[in-house]
Amino acid sequence: MIKVEEHGGVTVFGGRVSMLGLGSLKIFVFLYRGSLIDAGPGRLHRELAPLLKPRQIERVLLTHFHEDHSGNAAWLQREKGVPVLVSPQALDLCGKDARLPLYRRFFWGKRPGFDPRPLGDAVECDGGRLKVIATPGHSHDHVCFLDSERGCLFTGDLFVTPRTRIIMRHESVPEIIGSIRRLLKEDFNTLYCAHAGVVENGHGMMAAKLRHLEELRERVLELHRRGMSAKEIDRKIFGKPQALERISSGEWSSRHIVTSIIREGIGD
Ligand SMILES: [Fe+2]
Repeated sequence: MIKVEEHGGVTVFGGRVSMLGLGSLKIFVFLYRGSLIDAGPGRLHRELAPLLKPRQIERVLLTHFHEDHSGNAAWLQREKGVPVLVSPQALDLCGKDARLPLYRRFFWGKRPGFDPRPLGDAVECDGGRLKVIATPGHSHDHVCFLDSERGCLFTGDLFVTPRTRIIMRHESVPEIIGSIRRLLKEDFNTLYCAHAGVVENGHGMMAAKLRHLEELRERVLELHRRGMSAKEIDRKIFGKPQALERISSGEWSSRHIVTSIIREGIGD
């Protein structure tokens, strides 16, 4: 069941998707000043559609192309006749049906292609403005949306948890660190996260995540300097592989945290 709540002028739609033997994962989409931020996964379509149909939606803004954020974009475009805006870097991907591994189709459902438009530097909303901030690392096209006047920040999958323990193969911890550092120069209070929902003290929580990732990076590099392999470092820091690693055939793994740090070297 999807819960609908109002929070500081943001309508929060919160649902859950069960993940085989892994329990369930929360999913949030947000409606703010006529902008729907993220479209939710296809697997929540039946529950989300009747809630979104009567709402006034002027545009859909995607934080990134992943299917749990874009699964209902094609439907929204058809149903509402509104533009769906994504980072220019995701236009090609979003234009065609996503080809997903079986476990992702099972978790999130299909992601049909749609006709995306490119995001610029900002989105003018009803009586406000959302600044578009490029925050690559989780995905190459990831962006956050900031209303600096109200201090609210829509973070897609940049935050999720302050203590990252597993990432996808294409993710980069050093890039995520760079994105968070840039973001922390902005003024904001509340985070609206696609998996954690409303996060108060957002600036502090994001800073805590940055500290955690920086410490993790130092630890990985130190062990690497001592001659340990990525596999050994992974085992030492994170212990036994998580179930998601097996289910995803390694697309998700704590090892990717280690390898992305080693790949980038000592950095700045
Ligand atoms: Fe994602």
